[in-house]
Amino acid sequence: MARQKTRKQIHFTEYDGGPEGVRVPPGFSEDGVVGSVTGGERSPGAARAVGRIVLGDGLLAMRALPDASFDAIYLDPPFRTGKAQTADRAQFPDQWSSMDAYLNWLFPFVEEAQRLLTPTGWFWLHLDWHSVHYAKVLTDGIFGARHFRNEIVWHYTGRRTPADRRFNQKHDTLLLYARSEKSRLSPLAEAWSREDYLHMKRQQLQHDPDGREWIWGHAGRGRSRAYKIYIDEQVSRGRAVDSVWDIPIINTSAEERTGYPTQKPVALLERVCRTSVPPGGLIGDFMAGSGTTGVAACRTGRRFYLVDRLPEAVRIAEERMADAGCPVRAEENP
Ligand SMILES: C[S@@+](CC[C@H](N)C(=O)[O-])C[C@H]1O[C@@H](n2cnc3c(N)ncnc32)[C@H](O)[C@@H]1O
Repeated sequence: MARQKTRKQIHFTEYDGGPEGVRVPPGFSEDGVVGSVTGGERSPGAARAVGRIVLGDGLLAMRALPDASFDAIYLDPPFRTGKAQTADRAQFPDQWSSMDAYLNWLFPFVEEAQRLLTPTGWFWLHLDWHSVHYAKVLTDGIFGARHFRNEIVWHYTGRRTPADRRFNQKHDTLLLYARSEKSRLSPLAEAWSREDYLHMKRQQLQHDPDGREWIWGHAGRGRSRAYKIYIDEQVSRGRAVDSVWDIPIINTSAEERTGYPTQKPVALLERVCRTSVPPGGLIGDFMAGSGTTGVAACRTGRRFYLVDRLPEAVRIAEERMADAGCPVRAEENP
């Protein structure tokens, strides 16, 4: 059944110019101020980083929202692990009778995400080996394969054990789709050291008379001669972030651990926010769990719209948003 739907979607999901203008979801005003924010000081850097937390079904919430109202949507569904996800403060089911049953459940979320994005928006689907390859085909059918931009590998550090049946499984996959050809990311750079840079280049180090370090850059297309690459300039520019993201997983003793199962690191969601949502822009997460997307949005000066159907999730998200400096009282889905 899922396969049939996927084929059908391919015909009508190509970007057609999108709706006129960008609409604003209920509760948000044009200037980004949100009615549901309760008292309390917002952190100075996050004056517009406010949002909503909704207790309810994510799909119903999506269906009630107007077209083209989000800059980015991040979905981190249950991965189809075949077992309930349990931690100190909550539990949610992750058992499905078949891959088809799972894809049929996921399909309308992805379809709604495409409708809710602005013409320049971005869609992130966070999965792992259990289902990502099947979900990729499904999502290609909805967004158009030509709008697939990256398979981001979130590589997490952690204990490794010798294994002879398969390698240690140490990554999740985030599928990244552009809503249209107009979608542009803000490039990210990460700090690196002189030593990292030199190790990567493996070239003979040269010195100017004043001691400034450089290496030869080789002449290429349009350049007649080799040229100097100054090490200090390269290091201060940082290293462009690529499609493999090394970010530690939330282990049992991690400071940010909330006791919610499958909680993702804020550092991961900060990257999502910084690169795909403009400052003051709006990110939606309709399976929000402990509210990591909201914390990252708050910290980076973006607005957020979080939905989860579990009261424990919403309670934890509320606590975290207050701690992050963006206090929001959760609402029930009408
Ligand atoms: C993998 S967890 C999300 C974890 C989250 N990213 C975090 O960092 O805490 C998946 C979440 O999807 C929620 N969920 C599953 N089906 C849902 C639905 N129909 N509507 C809303 N939330 C749903 C579960 O309650 C669970 O919290």
